Amino acid sequence: MLKIFANHVHSDLSKLIIINQISVVEESKGFELRSIGKPAQFSSVSAITAASLLEKAFSGCESRVVKMNGAIYGRTASSVPKQRRRRLVMSFEMVRLDRVSSEPLYQQLYRQIREELESGSFDSSASRVPSSRVLAATLGISRPTVNQAFSKLLEEGYLQARKRSGIFVADHLPATFLKPARPATTARTEHSPRFARRVTRMTDFRSGRQLDVGVAGPPSVTFVAGLPAVDEFPIAVWERLREQVLAKKGAHLLRYASSRGEIELRKAIAAYLCDFRGANCDPDQIVVVGGMQQAMLACALALINEGEVAWIEDPGFHQARNVFAFVGAKMVPRPIDREGLVIGKCSRQNSPRLIFVTPSHQFPFGVTMSLKRRKALIEFAESRGGYILEDDYNSEFRFDGPPLPCLQGLDNAGRVIYAGTMSKILYPSLRLGFLVAPPQLVDTLVKVRAVMDQHSPAIDQATLARFITEGFFLSHVKRMRELYAQRRVFFIEQFQKWLGDYFDLEVTPAGLHFIAWLRRREDLPLFMRAREQTGVWPRSLSFFCIKAQLDPAFVFGFAAWPQAQIEQGLAKLASAVKQLKQRGPGNGSSFQIHPFSPATSSYWPSTAVRSD
Ligand SMILES: Cc1ncc(COP(=O)(O)O)c(C=O)c1O
Repeated sequence: MLKIFANHVHSDLSKLIIINQISVVEESKGFELRSIGKPAQFSSVSAITAASLLEKAFSGCESRVVKMNGAIYGRTASSVPKQRRRRLVMSFEMVRLDRVSSEPLYQQLYRQIREELESGSFDSSASRVPSSRVLAATLGISRPTVNQAFSKLLEEGYLQARKRSGIFVADHLPATFLKPARPATTARTEHSPRFARRVTRMTDFRSGRQLDVGVAGPPSVTFVAGLPAVDEFPIAVWERLREQVLAKKGAHLLRYASSRGEIELRKAIAAYLCDFRGANCDPDQIVVVGGMQQAMLACALALINEGEVAWIEDPGFHQARNVFAFVGAKMVPRPIDREGLVIGKCSRQNSPRLIFVTPSHQFPFGVTMSLKRRKALIEFAESRGGYILEDDYNSEFRFDGPPLPCLQGLDNAGRVIYAGTMSKILYPSLRLGFLVAPPQLVDTLVKVRAVMDQHSPAIDQATLARFITEGFFLSHVKRMRELYAQRRVFFIEQFQKWLGDYFDLEVTPAGLHFIAWLRRREDLPLFMRAREQTGVWPRSLSFFCIKAQLDPAFVFGFAAWPQAQIEQGLAKLASAVKQLKQRGPGNGSSFQIHPFSPATSSYWPSTAVRSD
């Protein structure tokens, strides 16, 4: 038995009919011909009848029925003059929405439509855009999402609304927008390039401008984790120091610089780490790199052959996952318990070459690795001939006492590579970080780092060295710790007020984010939709998981926004959820719920702040 779905998604004034997603499904009862807006059910009919019903759907159409990307387009002959037989409604077939991206769906849609218009590859006669209802149905998203994208495009003058006619591409787009279609575009899509396996192995589905982490729109509140309060950075001080180093060193700073890093900076970093992070190192062990990203890649390239094992925390830092996939490592996700990464049993032949950990503040759980586990991990690495990569990304931000000493300081076996970044302490676009390597690894890491980009910008390195040696670094850390402590308390209060009925907030003593566990699994689709509607975008915990099966939760960053914005963001999310709830069931039905299983013994509900 067969069932035919014909989502009759468009039939408007231009008499253009688009029938999309035709699928034939077996069913015991008979056949069903469905059309959105005008549902029609037919049961107990034969395949021939079903086919003829489908024919009927096209009966008003001009004879040609075109198949494109699995869609069927039919056009009525009578109402469309012969000379204007062109595609009158833009179909936006190019739109690809990524539901796991941190970029809100409305923003993805807005951006992709804008890019299409700017590319000049559309037929200028196809100037009408589909209605929000049609586009929402075609893309499987909500109408408010489409409307949000449309209103941005209308505001910016890409589209214009015509009374009783619909929405059109604006008449007066700059001439460059209306270039004829570029044949190169067709060539590009017809012959998709063959990429190296190291690229296809990465489970990163972003494309185009989504890949650009800098395209984050205005600094509105999103609660994305990992962003510091960059508006509090002392730009004037930095600029003054920059001028001073340029005045002193002049053209010297414009030549190629050391691939190890400027000596003043390496000295300043080594002194800071020994005095404040409990590290045990000298400047010759330091390699200046372009942030944690390059630190991870340099270590992975230097130490792991294709197919060799790398351990990573699960849940853990998604960028570490990409790096290890890229170098062809056999990635082994390790669970986290109250003491940090679980070592567990491991056969000799599966020994890890590299173990990536965040011991000061496990990302995203926030656990601090116990002393016992730290010692055990170093012993384990030594016994297996492997190395530990310690990502100390934000240990400065601890709110219940001084920061805990790093793992590297405990290592007498030369097994720990310590990595730090200025992204959280200062600002992420600086792209400066460092590795502290056991002496036997330093030269190789320098060699690998030099293959990538020779060295980090010398002027920024010299400025940072001064920033540290003249005391600005420590006073900035102190000031930010105080500011983040205030924002943290405020966030907890406001969270309880606005979202306390839905979540248990897990409060850990360090870090710039919290995990909020949903009390009722069935609320997950509501929050997914509310994120999409509001652009307030805490990441779902599952985003950071590989194998870990966790209860539904979201990771809320709080550090980057002032109190007023924190309150505004939480209130916005709460009110969107309330409205969706009032609208009743079906409001989030287009979202797939992650197949969570009950929390396992490795994952615990710890100090949860409850509103009741
Ligand atoms: C666990 C972790 N490590 C490091 C970083 C910083 O990376 P980078 O130095 O490449 O900016 C982040 C950023 O969010 C992070 O979450």
